[in-house]
Amino acid sequence: MNNKKSILITGASGFIGSCLVEKAIEKGYQTFAVIRKNSNKQYLQNPAVNFVEFDFNNAPSLDKALQDFKAQFGKIDYIIHAAGVTKSINKQDFYNGNYHSTKNLVEALERNGVLPDKFVLVSSLAAFGCGETDEPITKHQAQKPLTEYGKSKMQAENYLRSKSNFPFVIVNPTAVYGPRDKDFFFLLKSISQGIEMYINNTKQKLSFVYVQDLVDAIYIAMESPAFNENFIVSDLENYTSKEFNNLVKKHLNAKTLTLVIPAPIAYFFAIITEGIGRITKKTPLLNRERLKEFKAKNWSVDATEIHQLGYKPNYKLDKGLQNAISWYKENGWLK
Ligand SMILES: NC(=O)c1ccc[n+]([C@@H]2O[C@H](COP(=O)([O-])OP(=O)(O)OC[C@H]3O[C@@H](n4cnc5c(N)ncnc54)[C@H](OP(=O)(O)O)[C@@H]3O)[C@@H](O)[C@H]2O)c1
Repeated sequence: MNNKKSILITGASGFIGSCLVEKAIEKGYQTFAVIRKNSNKQYLQNPAVNFVEFDFNNAPSLDKALQDFKAQFGKIDYIIHAAGVTKSINKQDFYNGNYHSTKNLVEALERNGVLPDKFVLVSSLAAFGCGETDEPITKHQAQKPLTEYGKSKMQAENYLRSKSNFPFVIVNPTAVYGPRDKDFFFLLKSISQGIEMYINNTKQKLSFVYVQDLVDAIYIAMESPAFNENFIVSDLENYTSKEFNNLVKKHLNAKTLTLVIPAPIAYFFAIITEGIGRITKKTPLLNRERLKEFKAKNWSVDATEIHQLGYKPNYKLDKGLQNAISWYKENGWLK
């Protein structure tokens, strides 16, 4: 008889999901990594990982996967739903990957009688939108997402809130960085190559969380008595874009040329990079949706509620960037 609590983690092949899987094993959970047929298992090599394949867009196959799971393992104690689409130049991809996938999964869990004790939705700060004043964003303000990504995450959140008997919490991470991440890596690489870029000015207010701290926060929210609540997660500090770049420069020992690009010019470039993206079928880092986030003045946050649950980050930006940059160097991503 296995007395371990079981956990199912979606998006397990991704940056955050793979770190959640490692932590689940370390914490002694019977760990199920939800992947797709073609998901990359590079970071899921631990033999303690059990794999399950779900297709969120195919109800009969999802039902079968859940029935098979139930027959073999019984109950699922926890689910962390970290699968999601963070970048695309096609608006519909965000709604399919963030809203419909969440709704389809929850409906299938209900239909097949596989309700977890708690379901954690890994949403995003983007579901709140940027700060409209100089004050940090709080979970109490009205959600006004700027982007289709943020809107699709808010729609998934609203769906969960509409359910009366479904036990969930929602985690809203700010920008997540750390080993394995490919998004921040491009900014670091640009600085390592001597280019320090800003849109409009160097004073954008920002917040960050190192991936291991986010993982800790997610488990704290999951294992806490909290239900039907949002938790914004950061490293509990706020920074400016200049401070971020200065720390990167310090750890890379880089000298840079600073480019402050006016938003209309960045918009023009975004149209070009999107055009190239449509041909190459790759979403460029600079696109018109992302530009809305790059232009916003205030992404500082107030993460009081997760702190009150006992969350204490181990990595402020200085130490986190140092670790991330060391990892990129050790793994040959940066020279
Ligand atoms: N990174 C950040 O800064 C950040 C900040 C706030 C919130 N988040 C949220 O955190 C979650 C994980 O993000 P990440 O940075 O780890 O992204 P990631 O590295 O791109 O990983 C995304 C994961 O979701 C899976 N996925 C995507 N679309 C799917 C679909 N339609 N059906 C099933 N699986 C799908 C991917 O599977 P494949 O490997 O098969 O493609 C992958 O495992 C997302 O929900 C994201 O919105 C991220």
